[in-house]
Amino acid sequence: MQILSPAEIETAAQIIRAGGVVAFPTETVYGLGANALDAKAVERIFAAKNRPHNDPIIVHIAALDQLQAVAAVVPDLANQLATQFWPGALTLILKRSNKVPSLVTAKLPNLAVRMPSHPIAQALIRAAGVPIAAPSANLFTRPSPTTAAHVMEDLADRIDAVIDGGATTIGLESTILDLTQSPPMILRPGGVLLEDLRRVIPDVQIRERALAMDEIAPAPGMLEKHYAPRATLFVFAGDDAIDAMQRTVEKNRQKKVGLLLMNDEREHFTHQPYIFLLGDDLQAAALNLFAGLRALDQRGVDLILMRAPQRTGIGIALWDRLQRAGTIIT
Ligand code: TXA
Ligand code: MG
Repeated sequence: MQILSPAEIETAAQIIRAGGVVAFPTETVYGLGANALDAKAVERIFAAKNRPHNDPIIVHIAALDQLQAVAAVVPDLANQLATQFWPGALTLILKRSNKVPSLVTAKLPNLAVRMPSHPIAQALIRAAGVPIAAPSANLFTRPSPTTAAHVMEDLADRIDAVIDGGATTIGLESTILDLTQSPPMILRPGGVLLEDLRRVIPDVQIRERALAMDEIAPAPGMLEKHYAPRATLFVFAGDDAIDAMQRTVEKNRQKKVGLLLMNDEREHFTHQPYIFLLGDDLQAAALNLFAGLRALDQRGVDLILMRAPQRTGIGIALWDRLQRAGTIIT
């Protein structure tokens, strides 16, 4: 695998045009890209990630005329949302154009598409001259990568290249909004906030599981176990979360217990060796969650404990990832 600098976009673009797979930064997480119109190239994404073929892939574009090429129908609402939120962390589900191989959408009639705002992602799509299919650049079920080092940890030797553009700026994936349903439905909360979408679509829905505590049966392609560290993750949501975490540390003295803490929670765990600090606010927690899960895994912990974040703003997306990465304890 080659490690490319942002100045080597043209090399990366050539690899994409030749049917190869290249990891690249977006504002959310690193993606693993291939020419979205080349089924053989897209097949290499599935192989590199060990990703099952029933999990469809988001197509990334750099200009609105590419939207016409990949979607069969572009409703007014899609254009309105594109004006408001693109480039950015919003993925739209639309009817698929026949030009996009059915492998990309896992044979679904619908397609997921977004225009990333990261300058390297934009430059790569433009230089390649084709839309780029890209899931997060991690092994299937592992936490998404927010640095090139995370990509290498999972995929070195399985992909052609990674463009090292430093850490991503949001840290959680895009919001996926299904415009084929009426009213539109958020399938995955993410970087564009529910509050902001409500201003454009007052009756926008959000998939039950993202807000409720109980698990519902997953739809194809929206698999439950995901974003998971190797260690067992417990997320404490009760009012006595800190107490419950302290008790859990005590009860597991014979194990290596890792703690993912907000800066102001640090004082409650003074003698614990395996601590990763997420930062001061929700934004920082979103940015650092996946890096924290990976860092504690690398230190070989058996258990990871964390207090559930506030469930507003980006906290809704954080909660969704935590639910799928571990167990919420109330
Ligand atoms: O921020 C992001 O969205 C990142 C960056 C790289 O753009 N990408 C990303 O891709 O998170 P991935 O593959 O890790 O997650 C995409 C999710 C999957 O859960 C997939 O099932 C869903 O989007 N998805 C993709 N195409 C779909 C479709 N046609 N219908 C419904 N869900 C779809
Ligand atoms: Mg992913």
